[in-house]
Amino acid sequence: MSVEDAGNQSSQHRIDSIIDKYNLYVNPGLSKLMQFAGFGDVEESTLGTVLRTASGAEFLDFVGGYGVFTLGHRHPKVVDAVHRQLDRQPLSTRTFFNEPQAVLAEKLAQITPGNLQYSFFSNSGAEAVESALKIARIATGKTDFISMEGSYHGKTMGSLALTGREKYRTPFLPMMPGVSFVPFNDVGATAEAITEHTAAIIVEPVQGEGGIIVPDTGYLSGLRNLCTERGILLIADEIQSGLARTGAMFAVDHESVVPDIMCLAKALGGGVMPIGATISTEAIWQAAFGANPLIHTSTFGGNPLACAAGIAALQVIQEEGLCALAAIRGDQLITGLRRVQESMKGSLLAVRGKGLMIGVEFMQKDVAEITINAMARRGIIAAYTLNNPKVIRFEPPLIVSTEEVERCILAFGESVVEAAAMLEGMEDN
Ligand SMILES: Cc1ncc(COP(=O)(O)O)c(C=O)c1O
Repeated sequence: MSVEDAGNQSSQHRIDSIIDKYNLYVNPGLSKLMQFAGFGDVEESTLGTVLRTASGAEFLDFVGGYGVFTLGHRHPKVVDAVHRQLDRQPLSTRTFFNEPQAVLAEKLAQITPGNLQYSFFSNSGAEAVESALKIARIATGKTDFISMEGSYHGKTMGSLALTGREKYRTPFLPMMPGVSFVPFNDVGATAEAITEHTAAIIVEPVQGEGGIIVPDTGYLSGLRNLCTERGILLIADEIQSGLARTGAMFAVDHESVVPDIMCLAKALGGGVMPIGATISTEAIWQAAFGANPLIHTSTFGGNPLACAAGIAALQVIQEEGLCALAAIRGDQLITGLRRVQESMKGSLLAVRGKGLMIGVEFMQKDVAEITINAMARRGIIAAYTLNNPKVIRFEPPLIVSTEEVERCILAFGESVVEAAAMLEGMEDN
C-alpha cells in the first residue's frame, strides 16, 4: 500500500468513526439526512469562502451558515479581536462593568434605524426572539402576537409559538397562547387579526426559512403604519436578513422602516462567536426594565468574547463595503440562476431574492434534493430552506468573488440537468 493510500484509509477510518458517534450519541436521523444530501464527510477547517474536509476535499460555501458567515470564515480581524479578548478576559464575572458589551451596544445604537438605542444580548437567534416577546409583553401590558405563515423565528417554546410551520409546532402543543398567523405580504389580513390584546406583530423583512420570500415594496411600511395607528409594536426579526445580507445594513432600511424592536444574531458574531441581540427604544426599555433591571437576564449573554467579535464584525462590514458587495454579487448570482431557469423551464418555478439572500424554487422537492447532492459532488455547498424543501437557498459570504459566483452558477446548471435526468430515468423504470 502506498503512503497516500494508507493516509486515505486512515482519514476514511476517522470519518467513519465520527459518523458512527453521530449515529450512537448525537442524532442518527440527522446523520442519515446529511449523508443523503452528499455531506458524508467531516469539516476540518475553513477560511474565507472555502471549507476543507477530513478527506481532503474542498468546497465553496454557498450556504454561509444561513447568514452566519457574512464576513466569510475566520475573518482575520474578527479572529484577532477574539484572540486578544481571550488573552485578557473571555467571560465576565457580571459584577463589574464589561467594556466590549458597552461598546457593541453603542455601535448597534449608531447603525440601527431611528431611535433604536438599547441592546439586550443573548447567545442565539431564538433567545433574541424570546427576549423580544418578553419585552413586548411587559412594555405594552398586552399578551398576544401576530406572526406570519411560513415564518421562522426559532425552536424554543416561545419562538416556536411564532414560527409558522405546523410540522415543528404540532408535536409540542399546547403552544404559548395568543398567537395568530396571517399570510405574509398582506397588510389587510394583518389589520383584521389585531385585537385589544395584541402586543406586537413580528415579521422577517425577507422570509428566510419560508423559502426566501421578498415582500412587495410598501408591505413593511404598511405594517409600520398599521402598528403606529393601532398602538402596537413592530418587531423586525433581522436574524437572517440583517447586517448587509440583502444589500443594505438591515432589510427594513430598503423601505426606511423603523421597527420598535429588532432581533439580530447569526452574522453579528462575525462567523466566529455565537451572539444574539434584541434592540429597542428608550421608552420601551424603561417600560420593560425600569421597575426591575433584572427582569430578564442571561448568564452568558453579552460576554466579552462574543461582544469583541461583534464589534470587529460591524467594523469589517463597514470598512469592506459589504452592503455594496452583497448587492453587486447578488445581481450577478440571480442573473446567472435566472439563465439556468430559462434553459430548464420544466424544473424551476422561480428565482428570487435580495442581495445575497437568494432562493430557487423547484417544481419538485426530489429534484431540489438531488440537485443539492449533485452540487456537493461539484464542490459547492447548497441547502434547502427549513420550511420549504422545494427551495434551495444561496447565502454565500459577502466576500465571494465574481469567479466563485460563476463557478456556483455553472455547478448549479449542471446539477439541475443531472437531477432532472436522474428523476426522469427513475420515472421511466
Ligand atoms: C429569521 C430567523 N429568526 C430566528 C432564527 C433562530 O435562530 P437560532 O437558530 O440561532 O436560534 C433563525 C434561524 O435560522 C432565523 O432565520
